[in-house]
Amino acid sequence: MTSFPRPAAVVGAGHYVPEKILSNADLEKIVDTSDEWIRTRTGIRFRRIAAENESTCDMAIHAARAALASAGISPADVDAVVFATGTPDYFNIPSCACLLQHALGIPHAYGYDLAAACSGFVYALDAGATAIAAGRADTVLVVGAEKLSAFTDYTDRNTCVLFGDGAGAVVLRASETPGVLSTVLGIDGDKSSLISLPGGGSRNPPSQRVLDERLCYWRMQGRELFKVAVHTLTQGAQDALAKADLSLDDIDVIIPHQANARIIEAVCDRLGGEKAREKLFLDLDVYGNTSAASIAIALSDAVSQGRIVPGSKVLLTAFGGGLTWGAAVLVWGGRA
Ligand code: ACO
Repeated sequence: MTSFPRPAAVVGAGHYVPEKILSNADLEKIVDTSDEWIRTRTGIRFRRIAAENESTCDMAIHAARAALASAGISPADVDAVVFATGTPDYFNIPSCACLLQHALGIPHAYGYDLAAACSGFVYALDAGATAIAAGRADTVLVVGAEKLSAFTDYTDRNTCVLFGDGAGAVVLRASETPGVLSTVLGIDGDKSSLISLPGGGSRNPPSQRVLDERLCYWRMQGRELFKVAVHTLTQGAQDALAKADLSLDDIDVIIPHQANARIIEAVCDRLGGEKAREKLFLDLDVYGNTSAASIAIALSDAVSQGRIVPGSKVLLTAFGGGLTWGAAVLVWGGRA
């Protein structure tokens, strides 16, 4: 069963991560932390960090080219670009969608950036599938990309050990066969203080005070976020399965937002224990939390490692600042 009347097949994926590796041993030299603390509390060993002159869109260009190539689709066929990011190249103007459209030479498309924090890629996937269902587009490039390191305070051990940079993309195409089967999305602004980037917007515009008070970096209440994350990731997964009229037994691969291995463990306990763990795909140990890019990178990674093959049923579940959450069930591949 699909909740989209006109199917959107997921026909290609690509990802890109920057060259520079930041290890736990490197972080030990910067803040008061240890490899043992980071590994046991988060599951993260390495993250990739973009070069100083490498932007979010620069990374997305590589990921999008790879996704289009793997789908065998020319930029000329793309009707829409939906770009999920919380760390755009510029403060909204121009959007990353516009920069990417120009860089790829897409001649006729609409596009926009979408801000839903770490749930951004699932929101973008929903927007792409909805556009196809409505007949608004036939081919949609869906991107999740982040340069989180640009807004990470490398004097704050609570946050700097978590985040990494990277980009992932998929191509959605109007299809005769099912692709995206279901999506569920939600927000709860009551918990907006759990993670935020207080400076730089209209509440606290750029100023010397914003710099002095370090308001241009992530602020996070980790312990509270942990509990909310476990609940929303689990509930989202269950709701997306129910909407697709499927159970965990029908799913081949589970890709949760790659935030913290302990959060994911707790979610697996609630979803079905060992049965859920066996289906997990994780690359959080090598890339850290890449926010809106996390699920996109993991999807592409799982395809390139052969964990996802045509016909695989994949469950995605994400949560993010705001709060936002989103989950989806899709069948990989399909006939355009
Ligand atoms: N190295 C060493 N000690 C540290 C570090 C560090 N890098 N960071 C925090 N600590 C200390 C704290 O200061 C605290 O010390 P105290 O007891 O003396 O005050 C102690 O470790 C325990 O802190 P807790 O916050 O209880 O540690 P916890 O076990 O909860 O782990 C963590 C912290 C990893 C941040 C966890 O709460 C978490 O993962 N929360 C969710 C965060 C998350 O997912 N963030 C991404 C959100 S954005 C997104 O993806 C939506």
